[in-house]
Amino acid sequence: MNGAPIAIFDSGVGGLTVARAIAQLLPQEHLVYLGDTARLPYGTKSAETVTRYAVQAARALMHFKPKMIVVACNTASAVALPALTAAYAPIPVLGVVEPGARAAIAATQTGSIAVIATEGTVTGGAYLRAIHALNADARIVQRACPLFVALAEEGWTTGAVPELTATRYLSEMFAGPTPPDTLVLGCTHFPVLVEPITKAIGSGVILVDSAATTAHEVARLLHQANTRREASPTPPTFLSTDAPERFARVGSQFFGAPIDPSQVELVDLTP
Ligand code: DGL
Repeated sequence: MNGAPIAIFDSGVGGLTVARAIAQLLPQEHLVYLGDTARLPYGTKSAETVTRYAVQAARALMHFKPKMIVVACNTASAVALPALTAAYAPIPVLGVVEPGARAAIAATQTGSIAVIATEGTVTGGAYLRAIHALNADARIVQRACPLFVALAEEGWTTGAVPELTATRYLSEMFAGPTPPDTLVLGCTHFPVLVEPITKAIGSGVILVDSAATTAHEVARLLHQANTRREASPTPPTFLSTDAPERFARVGSQFFGAPIDPSQVELVDLTP
């Protein structure tokens, strides 16, 4: 079991920010990352569709006999965690919403928190529930920012277009007399847009993303189950449901390290 990989999946390459945080914290672990790029975005699809896709993605990862499944996609974490946990027990399934909520509660001084995410995550209210479960008095405002996903995928992470988009999405949320002091980046793609987001809302707001917190939770669970891999580091395995070359090119930005297209295997998730 200790040598088994950690399986990670997302609707695309954005979840590589989570894979990167896990790889940095636990360099000796073998990571198998699946990006369902053929069906991205999940964020605008119904909970039923996202759940079906998520179960199929996890099923494909079962071939690697993982010791844990990490749902790096916020939208899938928000709607499909119960179905995945039920389908793959006793393998632990960890999402990114709960760790993100914990990081937000740890960061806020005023108890006033803003959450930005995809439409699916915002509509489902998963962050509201997760934050309120930790602090029932927290005041939360949320907003879907679907264009951020497209901008990040396009590599337009700095300059006039993302700055205008960030101002349009965020200025109202932070305009009142007691604006939130913490902003949860509740979507895999948003961490690469920190620069325009900060320009739009000012540097005084604490930005929280779930990647680091999720990585620490992975480490804690492995330690608890005594299943940490002790062998020397092994390169990650990448799987993509479409265009490995694009996965490698766009994914390298999110992973923070070059990915060669030859490292990316094309897979088909349709039953
Ligand atoms: N991975 C999704 C999320 O974190 C963003 C991209 C999508 O909509 O599929 O919610």
